[in-house]
Amino acid sequence: MNKTIEKIVSLCKQRGFVYQSSDIYGGFGAVYDYGPLGVELKNNIANAWWKEMTRNHENIVGLDSGILMHPKIWEASGHVGEFHDPLVDCKHCGARYRADELADDIDNTDWENMKCPKCGTTGKMTSPRQFNLMFKTQVGPLEESGSTAYLRPETAQGIYVNYQLVQGSTRMKIPFGIAQIGKAFRNEIIARNFIFRTREFEQMEMQYFTQPGKDDNALIEWKQKRLDFYDDVLGISPEKLRFHQHGDNELAHYAKEAWDIEYNFPFGWSEVEGIHNRTDFDLKNHEEFSGKNLKYFDQENNERYLPYIIETSAGLNRMLLAVLSDSYWEDTENNRTVMKFDPKIAPTKAVICPLVKKDGLPEKARSIIEVLKPHFNVLYDQQGSIGKRYYRQDEAGTPFGITVDHQTIDDGTVTIRYRDTQKQDRYSVENILKIIQDSLL
Ligand code: GAP
Repeated sequence: MNKTIEKIVSLCKQRGFVYQSSDIYGGFGAVYDYGPLGVELKNNIANAWWKEMTRNHENIVGLDSGILMHPKIWEASGHVGEFHDPLVDCKHCGARYRADELADDIDNTDWENMKCPKCGTTGKMTSPRQFNLMFKTQVGPLEESGSTAYLRPETAQGIYVNYQLVQGSTRMKIPFGIAQIGKAFRNEIIARNFIFRTREFEQMEMQYFTQPGKDDNALIEWKQKRLDFYDDVLGISPEKLRFHQHGDNELAHYAKEAWDIEYNFPFGWSEVEGIHNRTDFDLKNHEEFSGKNLKYFDQENNERYLPYIIETSAGLNRMLLAVLSDSYWEDTENNRTVMKFDPKIAPTKAVICPLVKKDGLPEKARSIIEVLKPHFNVLYDQQGSIGKRYYRQDEAGTPFGITVDHQTIDDGTVTIRYRDTQKQDRYSVENILKIIQDSLL
């Protein structure tokens, strides 16, 4: 594993961002749990996305559909037939690879004479075999035919099969969008790079229904809006973001055109979000498999058609990893590690510290907490020296440190210490709420 990622993994465990699943049993492959700080950070990112999509767009509404759905949905969507990864094994050392990660053109690669990247043996690789990524489960007590169900590998299908109900309830006119955040599951052959590729993860997807012919422009518009989100809302450095367009050999079975937003992770440029033109592929197949008419009636143009769909599909956990990677800062001058989260998404906005545990300072600090806590997540800390307390919060990414000292009792002022610069200013207690609120705009 890359050195910086190793350090981030270690900090995440120590500080309570992310833990390996089932740790006391030796871990469970490619599943992670989110600790007290991790869940706050994840919720803040998800809420920022939700607000951006739904509150900032009058024509986008939300949905929360089930993880389990009618199994025919996955036949119609093409996932039963097409959602495979090609898999090769080394018969000598047992290492397993995704074939497309070893060779660009897997159909014209001589696998028999390939060298295993792990053990170096030549001539022991199997030919690629197709491996379906969906997790199967069973509904009801009996394992009989017809009881098979799948854990959804994408949240998108829940939106497609509900789109007419949503349109009927809201009376929205095309173009309109439906947004959803939820878990998705994929039986990944090779999971690696911490929470980058896992078997259980969360997606934040928005499906935008357009008139056919207006799809190309909608894609251009959404590409830009989605890129802006990373910089404006998450505070990610723009030079670490770029687009990658899918070539013909990369396009998913449903896509006419696809772009990835990539982030320059410590292990290299990798996808965080996909923006896809899915045409009427999904709705057409659902019409065929369900036998229901899924056409939209366009009153303005007096015509019926299957809308074309532009999808924006982000992985919440990957976005969180991009935020962690972008925020991680070793301040060697001051011998400290800092998570420079944008205050908008920082798990804890401020720590309130009484300088000493006596003279009425703890009570005063607690009274400040009472004012702040209805508005955002704050923390009380009276353990250890003030310097140590600040450094602990630097690793947690808390942007403001508020210290109550003896002067506070005399004149009602406190010091605010800024995480990144470590500068301190004195303010009246009454101003603190506004100062923090302003940083969250
Ligand atoms: N509905 C379209 C779709 O699912 P995708 O490119 O397969 O498209 C979209 O996935 C996003 O979901 C990816 O950009 C990534 O952020 C996230 N994602 C996909 N597989 C993942 C995995 N195994 N672990 C974590 N995130 C994953």
